[in-house]
Amino acid sequence: MKKKIVLAYSGGLDTSVCVPWLKDRGYDVVCYMADVGQAVDPRPAIDRGRKAGAVKIIVEDLKEAFVRDYVWPSLRMNALYEGRYSLATALSRPLIAEGLVRAARKEHAVAVGHGCTGKGNDQVRIEMGVRILAPDLEILAPVREWELKSREEEIRYALKRKIPIDVTKKSPYSIDKNVWGVSIECGVLEDPWNAPPADAYQWTRGAESRMPRPEVVTIEFERGIPISINGKKMSPVRLIEALNRKGARFGIGRTDMIENRMVGIKSREIYEAPAAEILIAAHKDLESLTMDRLLFQYKEELVPRYAKMIYEGYWFTDLKKALDAFVKESQKKVSGTVKVKLCPYKAVVCARRSPHSLYRENLATYSEKDQFDQSLAKGFIELTALALRKDR
Ligand code: ARG
Repeated sequence: MKKKIVLAYSGGLDTSVCVPWLKDRGYDVVCYMADVGQAVDPRPAIDRGRKAGAVKIIVEDLKEAFVRDYVWPSLRMNALYEGRYSLATALSRPLIAEGLVRAARKEHAVAVGHGCTGKGNDQVRIEMGVRILAPDLEILAPVREWELKSREEEIRYALKRKIPIDVTKKSPYSIDKNVWGVSIECGVLEDPWNAPPADAYQWTRGAESRMPRPEVVTIEFERGIPISINGKKMSPVRLIEALNRKGARFGIGRTDMIENRMVGIKSREIYEAPAAEILIAAHKDLESLTMDRLLFQYKEELVPRYAKMIYEGYWFTDLKKALDAFVKESQKKVSGTVKVKLCPYKAVVCARRSPHSLYRENLATYSEKDQFDQSLAKGFIELTALALRKDR
């Protein structure tokens, strides 16, 4: 029997070319396609995989698992890498690693493979996952090794191997998509001085088209997880998709940034994540209403740390588990409702309420309902300053 490899497969040029390349190295290739909400018809990719010579093609719908086990923990942390990137691509990689390992076990494969380049973060995230979950599996990364130096060479190779690729339809960008967002790079975006052309954006509308009038959405949370929009209960995936559609009409969730990759280079990346932007703003606001000061401020300090951990592929770690347990505990009172006004390019929280609200109007008010004892403030300041004075 020939040795088997399970290849993380998208049906794009790179992973299609990986199939015959791996066959030439003596493997039976099983293509593994994870549906994480990229919303493309998988049929052409499946067909291409077969024609490229795969012995089997597995398609797995991981959308729900992705949201439940990856997106929600990240939302509960309000995670943003370098303050801006809501981590759509980064979150999906450990899930794909898990799927690859699962498929490899089922298929009795000795190896797994992927089509990531040697310059990016995704190779690290996927391989870290595989290394930790299944250290015995061999990992192959053809794109990192092969002799094909350019897109054109890859196309020539594909045509020679009779893989049906649609060269004309190829967008000038490299795009990675899932329910939590889109990541776009390459082409004219490689010059940071080039503003992104309108066609770079996949979901969101820009100022070149007329924006709708602002719209308020009401989002209900239960323990830090959104459960309904405008009073309508929705499944997690549906809820995110609905907010993506609404936000996209206003150009909400766009980010254009230079980010620090793990491998030492800076890259220019465009992101679109309307639901993520709306939900993080709403969730954080509800936390500010329901968490006491100590917990709220402490949790805030963890955000950059947690986001960096996800970005760098430290998903299957004890630290990640421990932080998730802390965050879960922190969400016990984060239930309630937030109103968010969708405006051009911005989601603005405009109202919030919760049965666990710690806001006390009788303490905050400047009206006659005031019950705050202002005389206490003098002593408070005196003692706070005491430790800092140099005159004693
Ligand atoms: N820079 C992002 C990350 O490291 C996205 C990487 C994939 N992007 C892409 N357009 N293929 O998570």
